[in-house]
Amino acid sequence: MAAPAPFHQPSYRLEARGGNALTLRLSDAADAEMLGPELAAIEPWARLGMSSMHMRAGIATSDDNKRCFTIWHGEERAGVIVVRHPWLAGPYLNLLGVLPRFQKLGLGRAALGWMEEEAVRAGSRNCFLCVSAFNTIAHKFYLSCGYEKAATLQDLIADGEGEILMRKRLR
Ligand SMILES: CC(C)(COP(=O)(O)OP(=O)(O)OC[C@H]1O[C@@H](n2cnc3c(N)ncnc32)[C@H](O)[C@@H]1OP(=O)(O)O)[C@@H](O)C(=O)NCCC(=O)NCCS
Repeated sequence: MAAPAPFHQPSYRLEARGGNALTLRLSDAADAEMLGPELAAIEPWARLGMSSMHMRAGIATSDDNKRCFTIWHGEERAGVIVVRHPWLAGPYLNLLGVLPRFQKLGLGRAALGWMEEEAVRAGSRNCFLCVSAFNTIAHKFYLSCGYEKAATLQDLIADGEGEILMRKRLR
């Protein structure tokens, strides 16, 4: 039987640093119900004015182009990764959020690495994402993962806020 297309398995088992195991599982309504409000309450989404309802809707439904995965740490929901593929000669990271109590365990880096591996499997040349200019921790995190600034998109999501479009070359 042919392997599922990139980003189209229902779940992926990954290993983060220090042997921390995580599982990505296609998100469902219960995941969105729990994660939406928690993500809306933290930066960058709080400052950008994203409501719980908006965050829930962004997580709840996958389709052929938008793949929403809940990041599970053991039996706990630790965050979410949403990828649009295909996008611009490679996938676009629509959303990456690790809940504060699960941050700094290597889950974010492992989930991002998974996106890049799937992109390579799809034959993509690039990965893309946007990070709010005020979100200095996430910006540094992406720089450390090999992403470079491609452009700044002013007022893209909220008036007065800049979003940095970043690109990683895969070849
Ligand atoms: C940014 C984010 C995705 C990183 O995920 P994570 O699981 O916490 O990160 P990891 O444990 O994989 O760490 C990756 C690196 O980021 C750095 N980092 C992560 N969180 C940090 C923090 N709060 N303060 C300082 N550095 C931090 C670490 O230095 C780490 O480097 P190392 O691997 O060399 O130790 C996560 O902190 C998060 O979801 N933040 C809130 C939402 C957000 O900003 N999302 C991105 C929107 S574009």
